[in-house]
Parts: sequence; C-alpha cells; structure tokens
Amino acid sequence: MNWDTVFAERTSEMKRSTVREILKLTAKPEVISFAGGLPAPELFPVERIREATDTILAERGTEVLQYSTTEGMPELRKLIAKRLSNDTLKISPENILITSGSQQGVDMIARILLDERDRVIVENPTYVGMLTSWKPYHLHFSAVPTDNNGMQVEGIVPLLKDKHKLIYSIPTFQNPQGTTLTRERREKLAEILVDNNLLYVEDDPYGELRYSGDPVPSVLQIEAAHRGATDVTGNVIYCGTFSKVLTPGLRIGWIAAAFPVIDKLVQAKQATDLHTSTLNQFISYEVARDEEFLNNHIAHLREVYRQRRDLMLKTMEDHFPEEVTWTRPEGGLFLMVTMPAHLNAAELLVKALEQNVAFVPCDAFFIGDMGHNTFRLNFSNARPEMIVEGIKRLGVVLKAAMR
Ligand SMILES: Cc1ncc(COP(=O)(O)O)c(C=O)c1O
Repeated sequence: MNWDTVFAERTSEMKRSTVREILKLTAKPEVISFAGGLPAPELFPVERIREATDTILAERGTEVLQYSTTEGMPELRKLIAKRLSNDTLKISPENILITSGSQQGVDMIARILLDERDRVIVENPTYVGMLTSWKPYHLHFSAVPTDNNGMQVEGIVPLLKDKHKLIYSIPTFQNPQGTTLTRERREKLAEILVDNNLLYVEDDPYGELRYSGDPVPSVLQIEAAHRGATDVTGNVIYCGTFSKVLTPGLRIGWIAAAFPVIDKLVQAKQATDLHTSTLNQFISYEVARDEEFLNNHIAHLREVYRQRRDLMLKTMEDHFPEEVTWTRPEGGLFLMVTMPAHLNAAELLVKALEQNVAFVPCDAFFIGDMGHNTFRLNFSNARPEMIVEGIKRLGVVLKAAMR
C-alpha cells in the first residue's frame, strides 16, 4: 500500500502536536521539564478520588459501568451550572454538555459550526491544540495582535469587512502567554459580538487559577450583561474543564452555551463517542459535590502555583540575560519568553535538552511565519528546587546563545 495516497485530503493539514512530541523527550527522569501544561502530580487528590471510586462502585456499580446519556450525568451538569452561575447570570443544566476534556469541546465546536474555508478570528499567538483541531477545515485564520492586556480587541473591527464565522480566544491566563484580557477589553469585545451578531468561543481552562490581581468576569457573563440577559441565550460558547483544578486524567470538561448549540453538539457527540465516560463523570461528581473540599483544594493549588510562579519569575530576573523579556501572568500555568529576533527557540531547545531542560518553542502557536524567537515555560509542574535549577541552566544556555 502506498500510504501517501490513501488518506483523506483533510488530513494533509494534520500533524502531530509539537508539544506532545516534546513531552516524549522530557519523559526521562533527569529532564527538568517546563514543557507540558501539566498540573503538579503531587497535588492530585488521589486518596479522595480512590474513596469516591469505592463509594460509587459500591453504591451505584451497575449504573456507573453502563452506557449513559450524551448530554452527561444530570447531577454533574447541575453542579457545573451552579458553579458557573452568579447573582447576574443563571445557568441552567440544559445549557451544559459534558465533554471528554475541553479539547473535545473545542474540536466539536468546529465540527458543528465551521465549513471548509470559513474565516475565523483568533488572537496571536493562540492555543496550538485548537489549531491542530481546526486546521483540517482549511480555514482562514485572521490574527489579532496581543499585548500584556490580552487580545487588542479594537483590531477585530477592521477585519469584519470580510464575513467571519466566529472569534476564538482564551481571555484568562492565556496559553501560551499567561496574559489576561482586561475588563475594558471584554466590554468592548461583548459590544462587537452583539453589534455584529458574531459567535465567540471562550476557552477557559485556567480561570479559577488566579494568584494575584483582581478577578475579571468571564466574557460569557459580560456579554449576557451587555444584552441585559440573565441566562445563556447569547453568542458566547464557553469551554471549561476539571483538568487543571482536579485532574486531567479523568478527562472531564464541559461546554456552556445557548440550547440550540448544545442540541447540535449533542448530535455531534453521539457520532464521536456517544458520551463521556460514565464512571469518570460519577467520580468527578462524587469528589466535586463536596464544595468545601473542592474550593479548599483549588485554594491550595493557587497557593502552591503562586509560589512557583514567583520563584520562576525571581530566578529568571537573576539568571536570564537582559536582552530577553517575558510575560508576568496573574494566574494559569504558563509564561512566555521573547528572545532577540535573531534567536531561534527550536535551536535553543536542542541546546537546553543537552542540559536536560525542556520548554516549548512557540512558533506553532502563531498564525503566520513568526514567533520563532519565543518559548513557553510552565511553572506548575516542577518542584521549587527543580524550578531554580532548570531556570539557572536555561540562563546559561541563553547567555551562550546570545554570544
Ligand atoms: C487553552 C486550552 N484549551 C483546552 C485545553 C484542553 O484541556 P482538557 O482537554 O484537558 O480539558 C488546554 C489544555 O492545555 C488548553 O490550554
């Protein structure tokens, strides 16, 4: 078989994720990895999850091992709807679909909304996992520049002379930059969405992981308020996940959106995987329904990750050459480093791996041929002493490259 000729045309734009390929290289125990978006494994609530699993198998064993509804476990949808609701926005369980991680949500959104060669607006750089999923539709990505306050939303308006299907962004603690869209820009974005009847995908895996600064409401909330609505009937499709606040291994995410969107997504999900793992939904619910436990757990994550972020930033100040700059995130798991334009992060990675340190070059996160001098550092996964050692080694590699 000539395998080059058998695959569907749409696979020509599929390629392995750079991040996941780098993760393979970093699997060696001697490598200090700042590459993946991995939570700290020592903080996983292993015992709590074991107890929850025992309980549900003992009490509802036959049910949790059975097929279940595509929409997701009713109690879990209710719990998520409640966690997303507040005084001004009341989200109904009908507006929630449980997905197999938020990555599946992002993937299915393209499946139900995008036709080949549609135009979509994204911030630049953007989440590479979205690009991997959406590129096979041969889309036109219109890139909006970013700064330390997130996407420069005023850059959206001139793009609208061409018809665009939707906007996708990560407004809170963005991947890869860690930056957050300010409240003013969210208000402006909501205005643009409503005035132009545009769909917006808010990808929000990191929103609960804030370590400093003032909380900002989600675009989901701001857009509803802008329309004077108190329910989810508007143009925002919101993707959330337990991956970063509980555990990514259970693969429990969700979409909150207007009912017609949920209804169409259910049809897509039936074709994809019928439903998210019944057992994993029950385990997640059993753990998360103890609100005090979950909130305390998230508070603990915030504390530990805040210390790791601060330690990484401080060590970078002390050891990185002054020609290099970086973002200073108020939350999330990442920051992004920018080197002088003549340096190449992929080449630097080869040198860094020789010193057993890893990071992710960011060129794959950019629309267009740019970002070769940028790389992403994760600060949640490595223990403090490893952060110091890894950043020191990176400093040496950077200084050598600078010469
Ligand atoms: C912006 C963004 N969206 C979605 C995901 C997927 O997360 P999960 O599928 O584990 O919920 C990630 C994971 O790193 C992410 O950074």
